[in-house]
Amino acid sequence: MNNSENSIVSPFDRIVDRTGTESMKWIHPRRDLGVPDAIPMWVADMDFEAPPAVVEALARRVRHGVFGYPETPPSFFEAAAGWLRRRHGWPVEPGWLSMTPGLVPALNFIVRAFTKPGDPVILQTPVYHPFFYAVENNGRRVVRNPLKFDGRRYTMDLDDLRTKIDAAGRLLILCSPHNPVGRVWDREELEVLGRIAVERDLLVVSDEIHHDLVYRGRRHHVFAGLAPELAQQTITCLAPSKTFNIAGLSTAVVAVPNPDLLKRFEDEKERSGFDLGNALGIVAFEAAYRHGEAWLDELLPYLEGNVDLMATFLAERLPEIKLVRPEGTYLALLDCRALGLAPDALNDFFLRRAGVYFSDGRMFGDEAAGFVRINFGCPRSVLREALERIERAVRSQ
Ligand SMILES: Cc1ncc(COP(=O)(O)O)c(C=O)c1O
Repeated sequence: MNNSENSIVSPFDRIVDRTGTESMKWIHPRRDLGVPDAIPMWVADMDFEAPPAVVEALARRVRHGVFGYPETPPSFFEAAAGWLRRRHGWPVEPGWLSMTPGLVPALNFIVRAFTKPGDPVILQTPVYHPFFYAVENNGRRVVRNPLKFDGRRYTMDLDDLRTKIDAAGRLLILCSPHNPVGRVWDREELEVLGRIAVERDLLVVSDEIHHDLVYRGRRHHVFAGLAPELAQQTITCLAPSKTFNIAGLSTAVVAVPNPDLLKRFEDEKERSGFDLGNALGIVAFEAAYRHGEAWLDELLPYLEGNVDLMATFLAERLPEIKLVRPEGTYLALLDCRALGLAPDALNDFFLRRAGVYFSDGRMFGDEAAGFVRINFGCPRSVLREALERIERAVRSQ
């Protein structure tokens, strides 16, 4: 598993040693869980360097050497708006954007700003676990609208959603593209959801952090861009952090075309004490959205090649484990129910017997018991090694 093993054909093949860089992904299984050679494939960052233009912009800023309180310049918001127009065809105005130190903080601000303690918030489960925390840590209630799974692909259960809205929930947190099920929602699915939202006056928080990570044949549709009336009742959460692997720089935005909603968001942000951004995060955000496009266009086929490797390897050599093929994101569910292990033994089996650390499906909701989530944002040789380790562990079970 070193660089000399495979001839380097893509910059993403290069193995970057992350030890000594305080990487949570690497430290947790290796030090905290005590498996020193574990391959970490859990938390959602990639093992790739950020685009050179981002690294250079940061290096220039760091060389300046003074790191006082930053202003967020107009060019920061213009860069994000330009990206959304160019890449996603959404004519967003820079004035709709509000900076936040990450989308998880933004979700917490939103829950507090738009609901009261005890209020229900609808989640389409299984889903990114901090959605639950944002609701429950603020004393609100999760109402589940579970996704439907046909053994291959997840879809929304919109009939169930209608009953859940009637029952109470007026706020829905949508994950689009969806982590962890890997769906890039079809325009039609989103349009039906949008019609329901408009009819029933449902506020939609559309977390689109994975917006750029979409594979061939699929297209991401900005939910708020589907209809003008929908834009008025949607808060879109966006960041370049997944796309360009800069999550540790804690800088994101929400886009809120409705000025009343924007004001309520900003008031809550202020009450939470968030004011200024991170000097380096601001620089990286803008550089990524302005200069990262060519890098991203190389990344996407590389990630898709990793999906193909997983699909082929599992089908040919480990049919007990089924890949829920992702349409986007660098995350995917592995359906491990045929291994016959108890859900609470599954992740431990992968970590301690195979030396590969995944996210336990149950983190995203009980619906994903018996599944794990793999993060395949890594050099292909690392992914191959992980799959071979799993094959050996399963065969020696
Ligand atoms: C759907 C979703 N939202 C938000 C985040 C994290 O956002 P941030 O790092 O900006 O708090 C992630 C990270 O994996 C995610 O998958």
